Amino acid sequence: MAEIKSRPERMINIGREMAVKKFCFNGRETEVIIDHDILSDIGKKIAAYDPYRIVIVTDTNVRKSYGEFIKKSIEEQGIECLLLDFDPGEAQKAREIKDKILDQMLGFATADSGVVAVGGGIVLDVAGYAACEYFREKLQFFAVPTTLMAAHDAAIGAKNAVNSRFAKHSFGVYYPPKFVFVDVKTLQSLSQREIRNGLVESVKHAMAQDLDFLEYLLALPSDLKLSEEELLKIVNRTIDLKLECMKGDEYEMFNPVLHLGHTLGHQIEFHSDFTLTHGEALSLGIRAEAVLANKLGMLSSEDVACVFSVFNRMGTPSKIPNASNELFDKIIEGLKYDNKRTRDGTPFFLLKKLGVPPVAVYEKTISKESILQCLTVVS
Ligand SMILES: NC(=O)c1ccc[n+]([C@@H]2O[C@H](COP(=O)([O-])OP(=O)(O)OC[C@H]3O[C@@H](n4cnc5c(N)ncnc54)[C@H](O)[C@@H]3O)[C@@H](O)[C@H]2O)c1
Ligand SMILES: [Zn+2]
Repeated sequence: MAEIKSRPERMINIGREMAVKKFCFNGRETEVIIDHDILSDIGKKIAAYDPYRIVIVTDTNVRKSYGEFIKKSIEEQGIECLLLDFDPGEAQKAREIKDKILDQMLGFATADSGVVAVGGGIVLDVAGYAACEYFREKLQFFAVPTTLMAAHDAAIGAKNAVNSRFAKHSFGVYYPPKFVFVDVKTLQSLSQREIRNGLVESVKHAMAQDLDFLEYLLALPSDLKLSEEELLKIVNRTIDLKLECMKGDEYEMFNPVLHLGHTLGHQIEFHSDFTLTHGEALSLGIRAEAVLANKLGMLSSEDVACVFSVFNRMGTPSKIPNASNELFDKIIEGLKYDNKRTRDGTPFFLLKKLGVPPVAVYEKTISKESILQCLTVVS
């Protein structure tokens, strides 16, 4: 497997100093550029890859704030653009929306063209999937994440997926972007809820890999109005921790840190009918799975209390909305559709100790009652 490099080096690029990191997928290298107030450079950056035409994919919120701006910046380089959008929301992360994008690209995008995803994790997943399928992987793909969740998680790595009627991420592809372009200034227009949503992934990494970073995250201002320096620190550190996990595991298949809290988190998110954000559901998943780890004799009660107090301080929801026995049955039934399921059932990635990567424990060794009890604790 190709080497993953995490090099927070300083490089002069397009006339400006910025942090540049790199990761590799199957021998293909992705550059990750992180800085403040660099969006006007995006056209020049894309032009350096010499695409004939560019399809910009965004959602209707981001179209107004950044989509049109990016289109102008690319057109200024003499590159013709087609700007496509879809409604925001997790319900749009579906095959039908991806197929609609593909149909709209036909007749415009040539084999030497490119796709630029501009938006949150939903836009990146749908656009990356479409870019991969169109003309069988010929198009160049570029990612411009505009949410914290996308900047330090969804854009980092090669995975792109959409949801099915039964579960999250049932169908997808690996298609790494040529570059990920993070302008943290764009993150300053996010609501407090969306900043908190993204911070949960930072907390996930911090809990398993870096307790000093956890302290830093907990000391952030309670209104979550974050400065340029704070955003740069959070994005850089979270990406470094994610790249550390991807070393030797670029497919992110069964990576215990990356999937911490996600087995129940994805179920809780899906069965909330997406009234919870991914991060909110994940925080409930991490809580519930900490209780499960404790029941299995893996995690101390002190560490479980610490996990709960971290999320209480962050202000993420402490209860599954509309919890009922019927909902719990759906969650347990839903484990059948988890995309990491094997003959041993669905894996849970459970902490043994805070600050240390979790370990996989398969469903076949866990009773249904234990899972139900954990869900009850967060209801
Ligand atoms: N592929 C992966 O590896 C991966 C990793 C992490 C998360 N994800 C997925 O990402 C999705 C969540 O991503 P998300 O949290 O970015 O959600 P999202 O894409 O829905 O964005 C959240 C909201 O913020 C708005 N928005 C985007 N940028 C904005 C800005 N700069 N200012 C103001 N509003 C803005 C969007 O229009 C949307 O309403 C989930 O589907 C999750 O499963 C995928
Ligand atoms: Zn996640």
